[in-house]
Amino acid sequence: MKVAMACDHGGLELKNILKAELENMGHEVVDFGTYTSDSVDYPDYASKAALAVAKQECEKGVVVCGTGIGVSMVCNKVHGVRCALCHDVFSAKATRAHNDANMLAMGQRVIGPGLALEILHAFFESSYEGGRHDARIAKMMALENEQ
Ligand code: RB5
Repeated sequence: MKVAMACDHGGLELKNILKAELENMGHEVVDFGTYTSDSVDYPDYASKAALAVAKQECEKGVVVCGTGIGVSMVCNKVHGVRCALCHDVFSAKATRAHNDANMLAMGQRVIGPGLALEILHAFFESSYEGGRHDARIAKMMALENEQ
């Protein structure tokens, strides 16, 4: 599948590791930057990946900053995006199964690359369960039109 990626300077190394893994898994990565360790503002990059997912140019997205918090907050401002900040494997599986998350956020300063790769695999190898979760997601997404 086509995967949007973005990071700031605080997530550059982990983004590059995750990008290589996604490509090894056979996915096509669209990398919206940043590409150097120069200090940048994470909204400028996370928003590009989120918009690509929202416009369905990419099926899923992976974003990284120092904590994962900033990029996940930005992505969740974009209509149509459900970005999950995951630092454990259980949450990565559960957010695909229950929330049908279409973006994954992680923090390079929070977890090591080994765990991050396990989380990446869990997220991309888990499927949405549907059923009782459909109505819950519909209620969540309806909030986008109520403000
Ligand atoms: C950058 O120093 C840092 O604030 C950023 O990577 C991220 O952690 C923000 O949420």
